[in-house]
Amino acid sequence: MTERGQQQSHWDSTYAGTDDFFGKEPSELAVSALGTLKDNGAKDVLELGCGQGRDSYFLCRNGFSVTALDYSETGVCQMKERAAASGVGMNLLVHDAREPLPFPDGSFDAVFSHMFFTMELSEDEVAKILEECCRVLRPGGLNIYSVRNDHDPHYGKFEQRGKDMWRNPMGFVVHFFDEETIRRLSTGYDLLWIKEFDDPSPPFTKKLYEVVLRKPRSK
Ligand SMILES: C[S@@+](CC[C@H](N)C(=O)[O-])C[C@H]1O[C@@H](n2cnc3c(N)ncnc32)[C@H](O)[C@@H]1O
Repeated sequence: MTERGQQQSHWDSTYAGTDDFFGKEPSELAVSALGTLKDNGAKDVLELGCGQGRDSYFLCRNGFSVTALDYSETGVCQMKERAAASGVGMNLLVHDAREPLPFPDGSFDAVFSHMFFTMELSEDEVAKILEECCRVLRPGGLNIYSVRNDHDPHYGKFEQRGKDMWRNPMGFVVHFFDEETIRRLSTGYDLLWIKEFDDPSPPFTKKLYEVVLRKPRSK
């Protein structure tokens, strides 16, 4: 199996072992994004790398229409079962975000992702996905994401797996970002802000950047 396929099945088996690997509460990013999304008048939100859905549910509960995807079939199946059991309406799909996003241009008011771009994606792949996000956003739409940063306790530790990527003791390959890289990757968007925050979700506190990009209204 390729390293790529190995990471995907590692997420599958991790999620198969528990219903809430990242905890039951929404992420710090989702909580802080709520006001930003509302202030921008967002209604239709696409979540990338939704995992087991803690943030998708939070966004749904707060009135957004949510489409969420992940390449872990296990995570998405768990979400589908939970959504059916609780009568929550969400559009859920298994999709590898390295492939083109299966949505027409201008489908969403916002794209949201917590700790998705920080997975085993090269800088070129991240740039291509950000470009795809821009395509599926409406003019003025937001792309709100978080990534582990170069102040994180795991930065530069363990087995190196590529530029700025290391495999942690749990077997996940993590891509760490500095501010300069984030600025470089913001091409085609207006960069509204980069803010550092702590993510205390299990199993340990991580250092992240919250990044908020806006698709230019004229695009
Ligand atoms: C660190 S987890 C975060 C999960 C969720 N956002 C949360 O905070 O609870 C990263 C997620 O990205 C997904 N992922 C990684 N690479 C992916 C890809 N190429 N396409 C789609 N999903 C991917 C993983 O399956 C995993 O669920």
